[in-house]
This record gives sequence, structure tokens and C-alpha cells, in this order.
Amino acid sequence: MTRPNGSVSYNNQGRVILVTGGANGIGRAICEGWVSTGASVVCMDVDDTAAESLPEGIDFVKGDTSVDEDCQNAVSFAVELHGGLDVLVNNAAIQPKQSYIPMHEYSRELWERMVGVNFTGYAMMAKFALKVMLSQSSGVVCNIVSAQGKRTAREVAAYGPIKAANLLQTQQWGVEYARQGIRVVSVSPGAIMTPMIRATLDEQGGADQLANRHPLGRIGEPSEVAAATLWLCSSAASFVTATDLAVDGGIDALAAFADPY
Ligand SMILES: NC(=O)c1ccc[n+]([C@@H]2O[C@H](COP(=O)([O-])OP(=O)(O)OC[C@H]3O[C@@H](n4cnc5c(N)ncnc54)[C@H](O)[C@@H]3O)[C@@H](O)[C@H]2O)c1
Repeated sequence: MTRPNGSVSYNNQGRVILVTGGANGIGRAICEGWVSTGASVVCMDVDDTAAESLPEGIDFVKGDTSVDEDCQNAVSFAVELHGGLDVLVNNAAIQPKQSYIPMHEYSRELWERMVGVNFTGYAMMAKFALKVMLSQSSGVVCNIVSAQGKRTAREVAAYGPIKAANLLQTQQWGVEYARQGIRVVSVSPGAIMTPMIRATLDEQGGADQLANRHPLGRIGEPSEVAAATLWLCSSAASFVTATDLAVDGGIDALAAFADPY
């Protein structure tokens, strides 16, 4: 007999959420998850082609998170359209195939692009969103980080260290704004099946190896990360701030001492 698993439901009617990189992968699942709970969802992305197929009810604003004016514009767009901003999900990040190189081969151009999107992009989006949230005395910033923020991997000279910095952004901002009604949290996914991971499967040893590296023995689904954002950004998580939630099939508990499988 199959035992019941339990279920959870959310009501985000009237809440406004802005998701960066929401046209594909994890960001798209976050947009879909939130719109299905009644939220007003704004997706910001550089990819306006993929955005054309976003489900009904999700508003799109084109923008690059490494450009300050685009960050400001996306926040203003959400506020003007819906009258406020309750949740910012910093999700847009890049890990292109050509970034799988050791440190001594990095060009300054690629380094700066990755810092510009994955680190400064999170900061500038937060800067403009926090101004609105301060005026409301409420809001949640949720950074999508990575299990790679806490461990090394072959030829991940920029992505991993920047993800580690995203974890500290969460702690720093979480503490800084804790008494102003604003929570700052993060989610650190393990490998999740998205266009980003599909493009770099070879660099990561192939799908089977990558799945086996996770104690649960599989690659995760974007909706499993979206589910974590729904809880973390809800009133059920009202005493949770300045911290990270691993959604990673158990990889965080796995040391490199030996392969247990
Ligand atoms: N997929 C994984 O296994 C995995 C694991 C851990 C963490 N993450 C993190 O999850 C987040 C989403 O990853 P994903 O796998 O869905 O990636 P993805 O590449 O599949 O999708 C990223 C989206 O961000 C958009 N984007 C890229 N640069 C942008 C910019 N400068 N401005 C606005 N939009 C931009 C892309 O157009 C795309 O729609 C990232 O922060 C990533 O680091 C992913």
C-alpha cells in the first residue's frame, strides 16, 4: 500500500513577485509555481523569444541584470503595473560551456561577465527592490544560489566562488534589513534539469554520473526548487531569514572522502 505523502497549498493572491531569468529553467518554474497560487508575476529576462511561450498571467519585461538601468526598469515595471513588490527572486545567472576552464585560462572579459551577471546583477536587483520594500516595510528577497557555493568542482573557477558570495549576500542583507520587515533567504539547488545543465552535461561527467553524485540518485526538477521558494517566501517561514535552504538531493551532506555508492 502506498502511504500518503501529504500536500501543501499556498495563496499568493494580491502578492507581487519579480523573477529574474524567468523565461527558462528554474526561473520559469518559479514563475509558473507562483502564478498558479494567484500571485501577480513579473518575469525579467534577456531571452524574449522563450518568454513568448510563458503561461498566461505572467508579465514580461526584457532586461539584462548586469545593466543597472534594466534592473531599475524591471522593478519600476512591476511596481507601476501591480502597485508594489512583495518578493524578488534573484535567479538569472550564467555558467556557459566556455567557463569550464581552470583559473589560469580565464580571460578578464569572461570573468567580468560572470561577476557582472551572477554577483553584481543580484546586488543591483536587490538594491532597487529593497528601496521599494523599505517604503512598504515588507518584502522578501530570495537568492537562487547553488550547492557549488559550498564546495569545489573541476574547472569551476568563477561560478563556485561567486555562488559562495551569493550566500554571504543573503546573510549580509538578511541581517541588515531584519528589523525593517524584510527577509532575505536563499535556495541552493543541486543539479536540476534545465537548459543550463543540459548544455554542460559532458563537462559534469554525463547525466548518470551527475545523478549518482546526489544521495537521492537523480537530478532534480525545476518545480522542486520553485516549491522551496513558495515556502521560504510565505508567512509560514516568517522566522526564517539570513539563511540558505539546500534543495539538492542530499549532496550537501556528502563529503569527497570516498564514494559511498
Ligand atoms: N540547473 C542547475 O543544475 C542549477 C544548480 C544550482 C544552481 N542553479 C542556479 O539556478 C539559477 C537558474 O539556473 P537554470 O539552470 O535555470 O539556468 P538556465 O540557463 O537554464 O536559465 C537561466 C535564465 O536566465 C536568463 N538570463 C541569463 N543571463 C541573464 C541576464 N544577464 N539578465 C536576465 N536574464 C538572464 C536566461 O535567458 C535564462 O532564461 C541560476 O542562478 C543557477 O546558477 C542551477
